[in-house]
Amino acid sequence: MAIKGLAKNDYPLVIKSDGLAAGKGVVIAKSQKEATTTIHKMLGEHQFDTKSIIIEEFLTGQEFSLMAFIQDEQIIPMPLSQDHKAAYDGDEGPNTGGMGAYSPLQHFPSDLVNEGVEKIIRPIIRTLKKKNIAFCGILYAGLIMTDSGPKVIEFNVRLGDPETVVVLPQLQSDLYEMLQGLLHHQVPVVKWQKDQVYLGVVISSQTYPQASARGVELADFNYLPSNITVNYAGVSCNRDGQLISNGGRILCLTTGASNITKAQAILYGWLNQHPILGLRYRSDIGDKAK
Ligand code: GLY
Repeated sequence: MAIKGLAKNDYPLVIKSDGLAAGKGVVIAKSQKEATTTIHKMLGEHQFDTKSIIIEEFLTGQEFSLMAFIQDEQIIPMPLSQDHKAAYDGDEGPNTGGMGAYSPLQHFPSDLVNEGVEKIIRPIIRTLKKKNIAFCGILYAGLIMTDSGPKVIEFNVRLGDPETVVVLPQLQSDLYEMLQGLLHHQVPVVKWQKDQVYLGVVISSQTYPQASARGVELADFNYLPSNITVNYAGVSCNRDGQLISNGGRILCLTTGASNITKAQAILYGWLNQHPILGLRYRSDIGDKAK
């Protein structure tokens, strides 16, 4: 059925595996031939744990993420952020779980958060309510800023990775009190900073996303300057108890500065002075904001 319908579509065409695929279940097929091969791979060879696929129009524009804390009909949006899903600079290469992010998005219209809440998040919350589904948690809308406004490309019911490391540092009020307030059906006080841009650069194994790898020593990350934070992901210990890489995305470095250029200078300045064999990163995270 899916294969038969392919002749009617314009290309490129987006083909998604319907299920968890660690950020690797999306293929942008440039031709009918590539679409046919992809569908056979996803369904026939059970490449991912999926029994169905989704075929979508290819949307053009910058991708961004709108996450919100939800309790019943109360929506507390977070500052917008922008992930970089392609493996290599210039958005080249295969899709990954995310190679870096920055937030807020000062180059987008200032009312985009409200537009996203009213056009995308609130209709979902109303539908859940109509269906008597009580929802309390995080909604994550993956959006594209098209010429005709924001359009949805994906939804998650969780925080985004790496978006979270550039969004949550902006919360000036207390996260625990906000969550407690929401759980007790109160309207919590929520305050986000507005003066700084936060930038996160993911450090991955050389072979990511094709393969995971293990064994690179991470001692250098113990000696970061005070304006750089590290969040570890794919790590473990060697026999001597030293932290080593173990996976695809190994860690994310984060900093905040008054603009994206200064934030890039801090993070990429440190990374350029500390090359680490066996690991790699994108060197253009944040460029789209300039
Ligand atoms: N940054 C993509 C995700 O969390 O799904």
